[in-house]
Amino acid sequence: MLIGRQRVIKSSEITPRDVYLNRRDLIAGAAGLGASGLIGGEAFAAKIEAAKSKFSTDEKPTSLKDVTSYNNFYEFGVDKSDPAANSKAFKPTPWNVKVDGLVNKPADYQLEDFIKPSTVEERIYRLRCVEAWSMVIPWVGIPLADVIKRADPQGSAKFVAFETVVRPPEMPGQKGLFQPLPWPYVEGLRLDEALHPLTLLATGLYGETLPNQNGAPLRLVVPWKYGFKSIKSIVRITLTDKQPRTTWNISNPGEYGFYSNVNPAVDHPRWTQATERRIGEGGVFNKRRETLPFNGYADQVASLYSGMDLKTNF
Ligand code: MTE
Repeated sequence: MLIGRQRVIKSSEITPRDVYLNRRDLIAGAAGLGASGLIGGEAFAAKIEAAKSKFSTDEKPTSLKDVTSYNNFYEFGVDKSDPAANSKAFKPTPWNVKVDGLVNKPADYQLEDFIKPSTVEERIYRLRCVEAWSMVIPWVGIPLADVIKRADPQGSAKFVAFETVVRPPEMPGQKGLFQPLPWPYVEGLRLDEALHPLTLLATGLYGETLPNQNGAPLRLVVPWKYGFKSIKSIVRITLTDKQPRTTWNISNPGEYGFYSNVNPAVDHPRWTQATERRIGEGGVFNKRRETLPFNGYADQVASLYSGMDLKTNF
């Protein structure tokens, strides 16, 4: 259900976290979906009622302005300001998501049937980009595990593959002479990573539906991995027995592996991963932060990789 109006979020509307979390004027059970009759154009923002999560960090969230104006979404261009500038014509509704592959219950969902409002949570996660900057983002979403369990995976399923929509008329980075990546953007997780309770399918941020530039209407968030694993505008989720191909590994295998766990001990061939710049924390003179193993989520996820050499499995 939606509060029926179309608008972009203004920075003046940003409210402190404790205020927006307690706004009881929100529509009960709203997952910010089901926007039938929506006019296309700019991202449709709707208030989302979400339970607070025990998985949230208590670090200060990055401002909504930075979260929505400093983006990587190459379908809309390669500069950080391109996604906000070039995604206004993108239509995130109506939206279908296919769940298929090695499952007993494959399905072609309309987004409003895909998201169960009762499982919608707000989770404040750090996002560490492979380019050595980071943000703290109040996501709204559902555990990916819920979706996978609903599909009833077969015993042979070992991985999950994800695919972004291809829509050149609405995505300027997908047309023309210079196309920075092969499309569709694809990503993958091992099944146990996908089932991990931290892994989120986000439908919103800052208590509103996802802005187009952040991956509307549905994107992955895997907080212990570099940001490029968090694939945006997902149309297909496929369970498979083979390690899926991933866009950055296809385009530059020497620099980007399948796992891409945040690892301060493994430098990118062209820069250090030991430190990071927190977006919004001042200019070039601001002290860089130390990057933590698994982006600070080691207690929860390090056991997934016991026995693996994470220098070779980067
Ligand atoms: N998903 C698609 N489809 N296309 C992209 O170019 N960029 C990735 C990831 N998901 C990308 C994508 C990268 S490199 C990062 S760092 C995050 O999205 C950025 O998410 P944000 O813009 O919401 O912060």
